[in-house]
Amino acid sequence: MRIFSGIQPTGRKHLGNYIGAIRQYVEGQDRGDPAVFCIVDLHAITVAYDPKELRERLYDTTAILLAAGLDPARCILFRQSDVHEHTELAWLLGAVCAHGDLNRMHQFKDKSATQRELVSAGLFFYPVLQAADVLAYRADEVPVGEDQRQHIELMREIARRFNERFGETLVVPDHRIPEIGAKVMDLQEPERKMSTTVGADSGRVYVLDEEKAIRKKFGSAVTDSGREIRRGEDKAGITNLIGILSVATGVPEAQIEADFEGKGYGDFKKAVADAVVEFLAPVREAYPEIRADEGALELVLSNGADRAREIASRTLEDVRTAMGVGVPPAR
Ligand code: AMP
Ligand code: TRP
Repeated sequence: MRIFSGIQPTGRKHLGNYIGAIRQYVEGQDRGDPAVFCIVDLHAITVAYDPKELRERLYDTTAILLAAGLDPARCILFRQSDVHEHTELAWLLGAVCAHGDLNRMHQFKDKSATQRELVSAGLFFYPVLQAADVLAYRADEVPVGEDQRQHIELMREIARRFNERFGETLVVPDHRIPEIGAKVMDLQEPERKMSTTVGADSGRVYVLDEEKAIRKKFGSAVTDSGREIRRGEDKAGITNLIGILSVATGVPEAQIEADFEGKGYGDFKKAVADAVVEFLAPVREAYPEIRADEGALELVLSNGADRAREIASRTLEDVRTAMGVGVPPAR
C-alpha cells in the first residue's frame, strides 16, 4: 500500500490540519510501503506570498511534522520543489485534464475571490500539480481532510483518462478522509471550516498555541442558546466541540453526549480545552529543538527528496514513453 499526501507550508498549522491530516500521516507511516509526505512549496506560490517567509514557513511545517511523530526512517518526507518530476508530470497531465473540470474546483473559486492583485494561472492549474504529486508515486491512498475531496476526485479522473488514452500506466488513488474530524470548524464561526487565512485568530487553535491561549479560545467558543450537549444541525458549535473532544480523547461521540448529559456548556468547554491541551502538548514540547536546527531539517528534506526522486523518475519514464515524448526507449 503506497500512501502519499501533501501539506502547504503556508501560515501556521492549526487544529484542523492536525486532526484532518497530520495525525493520519503519523498513523499511516507504518502501513505505507512507502508512506510519502511532501511539503508543497510550489502550491504555495500560486497566491500572494513573500519569498523569505515561504522558507521560514517551510521549516516550521517540516518541524511540526517531525514533532508530531513523522520519522524519516519510517517514511519519506521531502520538499516538492526538490523533485522536478512533479512539475514535469503536471504539464504532461495537463494534456488529459479538462479545462471545464478545473473551472468547477471549489478551492479555486474560493481562493481566487480573495486575491487582490492577481488571480494567477498557477492557481487555476494547482489541482493538476496536486494530481501529479500523487500520481508520480502511483499512490493507492491519500490521507486528507474533507476540503480535498474534490481535488482527489479530479486526480482519479485524470489517471483514468490517461490510462484510457495512453495505456495502463497510472494508479487511480483513493482518498482517506477521517470519519470524525475531517472538517474541524472555526470556533467563532462554526458554520465555516477552521482555516489559515479566513476569520479571526480567536476562531482557530494553532498546533503550537500555549496552554493559556488554547483555554481562552475554547472558553470563548461560540455555542448556542440551548443547554443540551448533543450533535445536531442547529448546533454547529457544540457538534464541532464534540468531534474535537472525541478525537482528542478517543471517546466515541455518543459516549461523550451520554457522559455530559445534564452538565452545562461551561464544564463541557473546559473538558474540551483540557483534552486539546493534552493532545497537542507532545508536539508543542518537541517542536522548538527540532525547529532550531535548520541544517538538520535540510538534511532530512534532501535525503527524502533523493528517495522520492527514485520513485517518481521511474513513473515519469513510463509516462513519457506512453505519451511519445522525448528520446524513444531502447528497443
Ligand atoms: P493545507 O494546510 O491547506 O495544506 O491543508 C493540509 C491538510 O489539512 C489537508 O489535508 C486539508 O484537507 C486538511 N485540513 C485543512 N483544514 C482543515 C479543517 N478545518 N478540518 C480538517 N482538515 C483540514
Ligand atoms: N491542496 C492540498 C491542500 O490545500 C495540499 C496538497 C498538495 C496535497 N498536493 C497534495 C494533498 C497531494 C494531498 C495530496 O491541503
